[in-house]
Amino acid sequence: MSECDESFYDSVLITGASGGIGEEFARQLVFRCRQMILVARREDRLIDLAAELRRENPGLEVVIFVVDLTFSDEREKLLRELLNDGVNPDLLINNAGMGDYRRVADSEWDKTDDMMQVNMTALTHLTHSLVPQMRERGSGAILNVSSLASLLAMPEFAVYAATKAYVTSFSEALRLELKADNISVMALCPGPVRTEFGSVAMPADAKELPGRDAFYVDKSDVVSQALTGLRRQKARVYPGWKVRLVAAGISLLPLAAIRLLMSRRVSD
Ligand SMILES: NC(=O)c1ccc[n+]([C@@H]2O[C@H](COP(=O)([O-])OP(=O)(O)OC[C@H]3O[C@@H](n4cnc5c(N)ncnc54)[C@H](OP(=O)(O)O)[C@@H]3O)[C@@H](O)[C@H]2O)c1
Repeated sequence: MSECDESFYDSVLITGASGGIGEEFARQLVFRCRQMILVARREDRLIDLAAELRRENPGLEVVIFVVDLTFSDEREKLLRELLNDGVNPDLLINNAGMGDYRRVADSEWDKTDDMMQVNMTALTHLTHSLVPQMRERGSGAILNVSSLASLLAMPEFAVYAATKAYVTSFSEALRLELKADNISVMALCPGPVRTEFGSVAMPADAKELPGRDAFYVDKSDVVSQALTGLRRQKARVYPGWKVRLVAAGISLLPLAAIRLLMSRRVSD
């Protein structure tokens, strides 16, 4: 048995479970919880995943919620239904998120607004609503999916990087607030991972960023390292040694050097 196999949760709620990293969390937790709540907009994906998980572990209770997390009324409805059904997650994985690779001046407001709603507001709303039950129980865990981008002010990815800076900062502070309540809080800060993230974030005519290819980490490694980090009560996990190296480099470099590096990212 590997180290991360040792954690068992009663009820796990995963946002953004219809693909990518969220779906991978569901797969890796299939034997590590009694109940799994899957949240996203694409119902067909959630139905297929729920069926796969039930086939794999017939003892697992899987519940799906089709929710657009950009809307506060849809989030409120989800939270009400969880309460009415007596669902009480002891692991909340705030994974749903989106990006937009564009200059602020060229971006569409609706997409920018959606990004801020999903990446920051929904994550904070679910956390705010579910923490009291964890405190009452005297245990729990919150895993917020942030990004390596949270460490940098990134031109042409400015709002996304800023939303993830929020996630990392919020997670660090919340961790300290909840320590005495035996609730662990962790920020997962991946570098590039092959999922549908790029197809949502990139304009159709965009080219792969130079050098990015060398930093890709497989989503199965991202998730297994995240679950191990959570079990070890880490504050942050940067999956993959190259990503860890970059994170360490960023924390050591003076701001002037980072500004110079970032200025080279701006296209003509
Ligand atoms: N891939 C990377 O390179 C990378 C790197 C660092 C951090 N991350 C972070 O990792 C997390 C997962 O991303 P991913 O790479 O797995 O991307 P992905 O394949 O595009 O998955 C994103 C997930 O978020 C859900 N989602 C997006 N908007 C939503 C909304 N309005 N309401 C409900 N659910 C919504 C999507 O579900 P529906 O479309 O079905 O709603 C999907 O399940 C994100 O927070 C992302 O910022 C990704």
